[in-house]
Amino acid sequence: MATPGLDGAGRRIESHDEWACFALAALAVRDGDGTDLAAGSDVAASSTVETDTWGRDHLVNGVAESEMASSSPLLRREFTLDGSVESARLHVAAVGYGEVYCNGERVGSGRLDPAWTDYERRVLYASHDVSDRLSEGENALGLWLGRGWFAKRSAHWLADGSPRARATLTVEFADGRTRTLSTGPDWLAAESPLVENDIYDGEAYDARRERDGWHAPGLDADTDAGADGDATPDAWDAAAVVDGPGGTLEPQRIEPMGVVDTFDAEVVAEREDGQILDFGQNLTGWVELAIEGAEAGDEITIRHAEALTEDGALSTTDLRSADATDTYVASGDGVETYEPRFTYHGFRYAQVSGYPGELDADDVTAKAVHTAMDRRGEFACSNEDLNQVQHNAVWGLRGNTHSIPEDCPQRDERFGWTGDAHISTRALLFNFDAVRFDEKWLRDHDDAASAMGYVPDVIPDKSSEDPADPTWSITRVMIPWYCYRHDGDVGILREQYEGMRAYVDYWLDAAGDGVLAGEYGKYGDWLAFENTDGRRGLPHDLYNTAFLYQVTDTFAKIAAVLGNEADAERYRDRAESVAESFVDRFFDPEAGEFGPGTQSSFSVPLFLGLVPEEEVEAVAENLAEKVRADGGKLRTGFLGTRPLIHTLADHGYADLAYEVVSQPEQPGWVYMARNGATTMWERWNSDESVGSGMNSLNHSPFTHVSEFLYEVLAGIRIGDCPVTEHVTVAPALVDGLDWAEGRVETPNGPLESAWERTDGGYDLSVTVPWNGTATVRLPEAADAEVTESGAELSADVSGIRSVDREGDSVVVEVGSGEYEFRVV
Ligand code: BGC
Repeated sequence: MATPGLDGAGRRIESHDEWACFALAALAVRDGDGTDLAAGSDVAASSTVETDTWGRDHLVNGVAESEMASSSPLLRREFTLDGSVESARLHVAAVGYGEVYCNGERVGSGRLDPAWTDYERRVLYASHDVSDRLSEGENALGLWLGRGWFAKRSAHWLADGSPRARATLTVEFADGRTRTLSTGPDWLAAESPLVENDIYDGEAYDARRERDGWHAPGLDADTDAGADGDATPDAWDAAAVVDGPGGTLEPQRIEPMGVVDTFDAEVVAEREDGQILDFGQNLTGWVELAIEGAEAGDEITIRHAEALTEDGALSTTDLRSADATDTYVASGDGVETYEPRFTYHGFRYAQVSGYPGELDADDVTAKAVHTAMDRRGEFACSNEDLNQVQHNAVWGLRGNTHSIPEDCPQRDERFGWTGDAHISTRALLFNFDAVRFDEKWLRDHDDAASAMGYVPDVIPDKSSEDPADPTWSITRVMIPWYCYRHDGDVGILREQYEGMRAYVDYWLDAAGDGVLAGEYGKYGDWLAFENTDGRRGLPHDLYNTAFLYQVTDTFAKIAAVLGNEADAERYRDRAESVAESFVDRFFDPEAGEFGPGTQSSFSVPLFLGLVPEEEVEAVAENLAEKVRADGGKLRTGFLGTRPLIHTLADHGYADLAYEVVSQPEQPGWVYMARNGATTMWERWNSDESVGSGMNSLNHSPFTHVSEFLYEVLAGIRIGDCPVTEHVTVAPALVDGLDWAEGRVETPNGPLESAWERTDGGYDLSVTVPWNGTATVRLPEAADAEVTESGAELSADVSGIRSVDREGDSVVVEVGSGEYEFRVV
C-alpha cells in the first residue's frame, strides 16, 4: 500500500485500508531535451466543479414565458468587485445555444455551445478561467442565447421551450475572501439583433438593433435603445426566472464546436436574383460576409445548397423543409461584417441577394464548423482517385460531427442515426481524436435507453418509445469496443458495461437466442442495389440475427477484457447459440451461400465470423465469384458494404476488393469523386437522385471506406487488442498501386506503415508506438531476400523478436521503434 504524500511523478497518493486514491498534483510535459512544456501554462477548471455549489438555482429567460419563440435574448449583470482579484471561474450552462461575455469580450472560442443532449436528463456546462478578465471596480457579464435544439421541433425531436441559461461566477480576492454571483432576477434582459434563429432555417440579423457595450460595464439600461431607436423596440427589462430543463448539470468534456477551416469563394454565376458562389468544397458551417456601402435597412440574404440545377440556380429541393437562409439587415454604418452564430448549413454553393453594389469574391468566406477534434490520422497512396476519396471521407466525417455523429448536415434531419454511426465510427477514429466525442454520445445512449435495455434509432431522441432497428442500434456495444481498441482505455467499457448488457439481453430475449425475426427490422441493408423492397435491403431476419451475434460476441469479449470470466463465458455460449440458429436458418451448404446469395448476404456472415470454419473458403470464393459476375462492382447498401470490402481483402481477394473500391463506374466512391463529390453521397446514385427529396451529398455512412484505406492498403490493422498494446501491420500490395502510407497518432505516439514498390520488390517502413508490439506481415516475401535497415532479417537485430514464414509471407514480431524492411 502506498504511503500518503506525493510520489516521484507528482501524483498525490492517499492511503486507505482497501484502496488507494490518486489525484494529479502537478503535470509536466517534457520534450526530448527534458524541458517542461507545460510550465507556466494556463489551466482551466472543468470536471472538478461540484454542481451542488452553484448557488441560486435560477435560469433566466429574457423574452417571456417558456413558449416556442424564435427568441435570442441578451442577458446582462453589472457588479462591483471591492478588492483585487486573485482568480475567478465562470461556469455556464445554456440551452439550446449560448455565448458568454465578460467586460465586453467573448469568453471561450466554442461555437454552437453547449453540446446537444437530452436536456431533461443531462445539461453540459462549460467552465472558464476569467481571472484576467475581471478587476477591482465595475465589471459586467453577458449571455447571448439561441434556440439550438432546446427550442426546436422536428421529426425526431420535440421542443422544450425558449432558450435559457444558468451561470455562476466565483471570485477569489487577493485578501482571501470569495464572492459568488449567479444568474437570477437581478439580471437584465433585452432582445438581441437576432430576430430569428433556427438550426435548419438559418438566421435573420438586424444590425440596426445592435446594442453597443451590452456586455460591458457602464451601460445605461434605461436609455439604451440600440443604434437606431426606431429599430430597437425594447429597452432592458428584468430577466424572467423560469424552470430549468430538468437535466443534471455535468461538465462538457468534449471539444466544443469551432471554426476549423475557411474557404474562399469563386463567383460562378451572375443571376438576376444574386451572384452564385462556389466554395469548391461541400462543407458544414456558414458564410461570413463583408458589406460596404449599404444603407440602413438594406436586406442581404445568403441562401445555401449542395448542388446547382441544370440552369445554374441553387438546387434546394433536397433540403426539404430546411430554409438554410441567413438574412442580414444593414446598419448602414461603414463596412459591416456578418456571420451567423446559432445555425449551420451544409453547402458548397451560396447565393447572395440584395448585396449593395458589386459583390467581390474577396468579400465572402465560408467557415467550416464542427466539433473541433484534432486530426489523428493521414492516408495517401499512388492512386489519385483514392486520395480524393480519402479527402471526401475526411470531409464527410468532419461535416457530420456536431456534438453527435449526424447522418447529414443540410436537410431537416441532422440526427444521431445509430446505423450511420456504427458504420463510420472506425473511420472517424482513424482520422480524428474522437474518443471524447464518442464517449459523450455513449452517455447520450444512457439517457435514451429504455428501462428494458433497448435504445432508439436516433440518439438523442424525443419522438419514439420504440426499440430501434436491431441492425442500427448496435452502437450501444460496438462504439465502446471501437473506442477501446483505438485508444486502449478500458474506462469506457466499464462505464458502459451494464447498459451494454441490458441491450444485449433485450435482443437475445426477443430472439430466444435464435433467429431475430424480420418484423424487428426497419431499414436492413439500406439503399442497396439488389434484393430490395424500396430502400430496404432484405432479408431483415438474416441481418437482424447476424448483428445480434456481433453484439453478443463483442460483449463476451468486453467481459473478458474487464476480467469478468463468468459473463465472458455466458455470452460466448449465447453467441454460439445465435450462430447455430443463423447457420441452420440461412446457410445452404449445397450452394455454399447464405440467404438470397447477394453480395451482402455473403459478406455479412463472413465479416462477423458466422460461417463455419470448414465452409469459410468456399463461401468466400462464392462471394468473389458473385462480385466478379457483377463486373467488379458493389451491389451493397449501408449494412453490407463495409463487410464486403474487408471480407474480400481478408480472405485472399485483396485485388478484387481494390477493384471494387477504386471502381470508376457507378456504384462506387471513385465514381462519386470523378463526378464532383467532395464529401460522401447518401446514395450510390445520388447524382441521379438530385431533387428526389431524400438525397444528401454529405452523408456519413459511406465514409467508412477510409477504414479500408488505412487497414487494408496501408496495412494498419487494429484488432481486438488495443492499439496501445499490439497492432498488426499487413499491407495489401494490390495490383495497380505503387505505394501507400498511413499514419495514426496513438496515445503512445505515432503508428506508421508506408510501402513502395521497388525494382523487383518493395520497401516497407513501420513505426510501432512506445510500449507496444507489432506483428509485421511482409507479403510476397517467403522466397525473397528480406533485410531490415540494411541487415539480414534476424531475431538478433534490435527490436525484432521473431521471424517466421507463413505461406508466401514473412511474419516478424517487433517491439516499439522504427523499422525499414526491404524485400527484393
Ligand atoms: C437518414 C439515414 C438513416 C435512415 C434510416 C434517413 O433519413 O438520413 O441515413 O439511417 O433515415 O433509414
